[in-house]
Amino acid sequence: MSTTLFDAAGGTEGVSQIVEAFYRRIEADQFMRSIYPEDLEPGKAKLKLFFEQWLGGGPVYSQKFGHPRLRARHFPFVIGDRHAGLWLRYMREAWHECGVPAQVETVAFERLGPLARHMVNEGQDVPREPIGDAFMQ
Ligand code: HEM
Repeated sequence: MSTTLFDAAGGTEGVSQIVEAFYRRIEADQFMRSIYPEDLEPGKAKLKLFFEQWLGGGPVYSQKFGHPRLRARHFPFVIGDRHAGLWLRYMREAWHECGVPAQVETVAFERLGPLARHMVNEGQDVPREPIGDAFMQ
């Protein structure tokens, strides 16, 4: 089997649809929406590029932004257990909505579960300054 999770999730178009479906849920949930910046578009574009890379597609995210350093990039946002749980729930719903095959979803979420829990930083003494990186088009 040489196919990647990226291909199985529908390639660039599939990943884009998943991220759009996820962000629709964020926008509809005030608890989640309140920790996101006012303009959602830059983060949305970055999440698309990140997933493309993380699922085995092209490394455009790292070419533009360097190593993901995911936990550190989330330090400016106070993320609690409830945020992590809802993030996973909305992401999972987005994968369902986009019709990704169940086996593919299972493999991806075996890795996404621990990753989401790793992002929790509420009550922790972490630097809250954003990592400066210009968003390059
Ligand atoms: C645990 C719950 C999580 C919450 C509440 C959360 C929230 C956020 C917020 C508020 C941003 C900033 C968006 C912006 O600047 O517009 C962000 C960025 C991002 N998140 Fe998360 N996130 C979570 C977990 C994850 C996980 C598990 C991943 C990866 C699988 C992830 C990947 C990303 C990426 C790639 C970015 C853009 C980072 C950058 O390049 O600046 N997040 N997230």
